[in-house]
Amino acid sequence: MPEIRVALAGVGNCASALVQGVQFYKSHPDEDIGLAHPQLGGYRVSDIKFVAAFDVNKRKVGKDLGQAIFESPNNTIKLYDQLELGVKVKRGPTLDGLGKYPRQVIEESAEGPTDIVNELRESGAQVLINYVPVGSAQAAKAYAQAALEAGVGFINAMPVFIASDQTWAKEFERRQIPIAGDDIMSQIGATVVHKTLVKLMSDRGARVDETYQLNVGGDMDFMNMLEEERLRDKRESKTSAVRAMTNYPVPTRIGPSDYIPFLENEKVAYIWAKGRYFAGAPVTIELKLSVIDSPDSGGVMVDVIRGIKVALDRKIGGPLLSVSAYSFKHPPEQMPYKEAEERMLAFFDGKLPR
Ligand SMILES: NC(=O)c1ccc[n+]([C@@H]2O[C@H](COP(=O)([O-])OP(=O)(O)OC[C@H]3O[C@@H](n4cnc5c(N)ncnc54)[C@H](O)[C@@H]3O)[C@@H](O)[C@H]2O)c1
Repeated sequence: MPEIRVALAGVGNCASALVQGVQFYKSHPDEDIGLAHPQLGGYRVSDIKFVAAFDVNKRKVGKDLGQAIFESPNNTIKLYDQLELGVKVKRGPTLDGLGKYPRQVIEESAEGPTDIVNELRESGAQVLINYVPVGSAQAAKAYAQAALEAGVGFINAMPVFIASDQTWAKEFERRQIPIAGDDIMSQIGATVVHKTLVKLMSDRGARVDETYQLNVGGDMDFMNMLEEERLRDKRESKTSAVRAMTNYPVPTRIGPSDYIPFLENEKVAYIWAKGRYFAGAPVTIELKLSVIDSPDSGGVMVDVIRGIKVALDRKIGGPLLSVSAYSFKHPPEQMPYKEAEERMLAFFDGKLPR
């Protein structure tokens, strides 16, 4: 049986949805609904195995990963009551991981931090996913550095720029370790819908004059993003993804807009675009999208994990350009989503080097 051994930095809602989703496809081997690519590079989602996990929350550290994913304040959907994975969550270095609002509801573990590099080596991890909160630049870079030192492929799910940063990218290339990022673009999320809408208007001859996207949600991600200073890269990441769809500048405002606790892990996005088409006649499009945020990212993450594994199999290091363009908001190279998918599939077929 092929196996892809994955470590998680941050056992929040995204990790929970990913772990539960992988378990779901393991126990329903004939189920393909929800998967854009049931098979990639000879791997199935059920080949993913979680071998290590790191967090700083007292309620999660020391617990089995299968239990830690259900600990408060995680509040994404629950598919299982009992899940025993045989992997203990280890204490990561906190650094700047806890923002001022999450600190009010999360009690930090009193344990000293684990040696991440050692834990990655001992667990036999092949891929490390960075799921720490927005604004945690030091923590994100500490995990990227640990991946480099342990020789483990790195996936940066959040908006601190690592895969899209030249210095980091070169270092991953020099050490022949694959990396994909930055800031995962969800399966049917606000970014891909907004990108597609702006591209549609542009492809069909309309001039897009102004556009915005407002997002609200009720989980820790949204509570953390109340702190505007932690948000700079998130805004830049989401905005650059939409801006890349036109070859002229469009006044654009995109970002998280508020924290509404009772929405829990439901995210509501309001997307608005105004433009002109035939003979300058005006057009306005308003769209409301409502999703469960964390499984939305899981549906794409399972493709990225397989991309990193295939790169490891082929001894390819550095940023995976096609996989990143398809799966992330702020990749090293932006592409319309269809072109990115074609290139990613060519990579999996061995027709493109990265
Ligand atoms: N659809 C999506 O949900 C989506 C899309 C794109 C990007 N992201 C990003 O992915 C990241 C994870 O999202 P989430 O919803 O799981 O967030 P979350 O707040 O639920 O989880 C973050 C976890 O990281 C832990 N943590 C904090 N500092 C840490 C450290 N130094 N080391 C290890 N763990 C630490 C927290 O205790 C928490 O368990 C966020 O940055 C989010 O913006 C999510």
